[in-house]
Amino acid sequence: MKSTLGIVFVATIVAVSSAAHVQNMSAAMPEIFARHHVMEFIGSHMRVLSQQASGKLPFSKEETRTSSNAIAVVALTIPYLFPDESIVGQSTDAMDSILMNRDDFTSKANDLWMAATALSEVADVEQLKAGLGPVGQTCRSCHSAYRK
Ligand code: HEC
Repeated sequence: MKSTLGIVFVATIVAVSSAAHVQNMSAAMPEIFARHHVMEFIGSHMRVLSQQASGKLPFSKEETRTSSNAIAVVALTIPYLFPDESIVGQSTDAMDSILMNRDDFTSKANDLWMAATALSEVADVEQLKAGLGPVGQTCRSCHSAYRK
């Protein structure tokens, strides 16, 4: 009984302290926290798609659709994850130039959305190879303009 209580106690402390940790990070600047995860999420789906395109993973129409749609959906959130106060004076790789070029920044996020949506329709590995380049191009286009 005593040891069971001990385990419950320790588990509670761990749960409370990790919740506090997450809360502190997001309280500091939730958009910075969120966009880093969104970008990593996009990157991990891009890796799955590239590995299928290069033959490291077998081509799967289903997985290609899932990863492409995942990228497309979160691409639409990008413009909302860079409010002014999350860029100026913050420790971030996002450039101040986003503030002066909102329309262009949003249109670059839309380009990713469109390229990823087109990719979700591919039927074979040749089409995947052809459609992946334009998706990667939208990452580079935004990063070269707005990422340090
Ligand atoms: C509309 C602009 C835009 C598009 C499109 C975009 N990114 Fe980003 N990305 C950024 C900016 C700005 C940062 C820097 C964010 C920061 O440091 O706060 C970034 C950061 C990243 C990071 C680093 C995240 C981290 O944890 O520091 C990765 C990885 C990344 N992007 C991957 C991608 C990939 C892959 C694509 C395309 C499939 C993509 N991005 C498309 C603007 C964009």
